[in-house]
Amino acid sequence: MEEEKKNISNETDSANLKPAIEIEHLRKAFGSNIVLRDFNLTIYTGQNMVVMGKSGIGKTILIKCIIGLVKPDSGTMRVFGKDISRLNHSELDELRMRIGFVFQSSALYDSMTIRENLAFPLRRSRRKKITGNIEDMVRESLRNVGLENAIDLMPSELSGGMRKRIGIARSLILKPEIVLYDEPTTGLDPITSEEIIHLILELQKKYKTTSVIITHDIDLAREAANQIVFLKDGIAWAQGTYEEMIKTNDPDLKKFFKQ
Ligand SMILES: Nc1ncnc2c1ncn2[C@@H]1O[C@H](COP(=O)(O)OP(=O)(O)OP(=O)(O)O)[C@@H](O)[C@H]1O
Ligand SMILES: [Mg+2]
Repeated sequence: MEEEKKNISNETDSANLKPAIEIEHLRKAFGSNIVLRDFNLTIYTGQNMVVMGKSGIGKTILIKCIIGLVKPDSGTMRVFGKDISRLNHSELDELRMRIGFVFQSSALYDSMTIRENLAFPLRRSRRKKITGNIEDMVRESLRNVGLENAIDLMPSELSGGMRKRIGIARSLILKPEIVLYDEPTTGLDPITSEEIIHLILELQKKYKTTSVIITHDIDLAREAANQIVFLKDGIAWAQGTYEEMIKTNDPDLKKFFKQ
């Protein structure tokens, strides 16, 4: 299996880094549809790992496995050194508090104001000691994404770009150590996309998070990725830096990385 993977990565720079997420031989099928066949990847603390690959190939499934929303058929997934298949319900809950998930659709509750949407994960997370009051945390997270004035609005009153920002604010409110972004710039105009890219980079610098970013957006990949992994045929087909990826001769990669 391993020889299929075109590992064009220079791994030497990862020698001193601590792994945040370790994925080994991950397999996930839905009936006869084998989505992940033998997926292997290590994501180091502080790294921005960009996941690319064509629509329907399994990118969202992959990050849902990381957060325990989808149960793999086999393989190991360690997050902060803990094998997530061995965690009980409350341990998994605790782990999830340390991971933020920005959904592909912004997944806001339409019947709640922005304040309520942001406060909701805080009220649910009784296990994590919440220091400071919820209103302050909501306001800080809105300030982080430049939308403090939207606090009393309903999601239906926001543009697509604003919803993405609120989705990001919500996933960061508990100051997670890992943030999983599922297509944060898809469907946005180039200017708003650029703003979102800068926001992601700024927040990462501020909170020193490890990020996994699924995207088709070549600008986002170029600007944010320390490493890119290209998912194909259920495996990590290729991995490397942006510069390494654009130099590849692999025909599928070429289609993705042509500018
Ligand atoms: N709950 C489910 N039940 C059955 N099949 C599913 C389920 N969720 C996803 N799949 C299948 O798994 C495959 C991978 O889906 P996934 O959502 O991970 O794709 P993706 O790479 O994120 O695509 P996109 O770029 O369009 O978001 C698809 O074939 C999809 O039909
Ligand atoms: Mg997806």
